[in-house]
Amino acid sequence: MRDSKQLRLFPDLGIGLGLRVPHYAAIREGRSNVHWFEALSENYMEDGGRPIHILSEIRRDKPVALHGVSLSVASVDPLNPEYLKRLKTLVERVEPALISDHCCWTGFAGENLHDLMPVPFTQEAIDHIAARILQVQEFLGRRILLENVSSYVSFKHSEMTEWEFLKELLVKADCGLLLDVNNVYVSSINHNFDPLDYVRAIPTERIGQIHLAGHSEREEGGERFLIDTHDAPVCDDVWALYEETVSLVGPVSTMVEWDADIPSYERLEEEVMKAERIRKKVAL
Ligand SMILES: [Fe+2]
Repeated sequence: MRDSKQLRLFPDLGIGLGLRVPHYAAIREGRSNVHWFEALSENYMEDGGRPIHILSEIRRDKPVALHGVSLSVASVDPLNPEYLKRLKTLVERVEPALISDHCCWTGFAGENLHDLMPVPFTQEAIDHIAARILQVQEFLGRRILLENVSSYVSFKHSEMTEWEFLKELLVKADCGLLLDVNNVYVSSINHNFDPLDYVRAIPTERIGQIHLAGHSEREEGGERFLIDTHDAPVCDDVWALYEETVSLVGPVSTMVEWDADIPSYERLEEEVMKAERIRKKVAL
């Protein structure tokens, strides 16, 4: 394990789950054994109503991480001041342990693409994104985490690998990485690289949270590729990569994302308990 414990920039919350509507009842009835929940920021930005009421209730007992999809930090459109204000209000209300969004752009010229679009790995993109992250952090008064996204295309004008890009971006922006281990695996198959090269390159203290998820496999023109669908159990290769990751970087707040064909709360918890066993085996 790298020299990790004394350098942590983010708290280790243990194992958590993504907060999803079908599981509200199980959680409110006290059937939950996880240590924390991750809530999708945009779903809780209304002033009143059931979602924020339930989130506040859950927050009384357990830490919460806020995870957004609309920051569009890599876009060339200006940052949306209205969105940032609503996020800050939510942050003040929930007092989350972690705040994250994605290293991507989601729109251009005011149009929302409703997807997490990849960025070219260039110095120009590092400078552009880092300046915007610093602006967001200044506004929120907090460090944030950026999540690595799965990608299905690459840019001819990229100047470096994704991990070289992230390593420089995280330091320049003084932010953290939400390391989605499944996304690293998906991209490693789609772009033919060693996922361990990726994980080894990231400064340990910058990894503030880990996502695990299931993906789908497709074949086209004789070529196998993976899609990040969040509709299945975590596969064995991703569990193996998770184990390698925590043995390298130490215990990091870990959760499982499951967003389509959502199973029962108990089944989902069973999945994340595997992460707890791995954490205990190699990192605690
Ligand atoms: Fe993720």
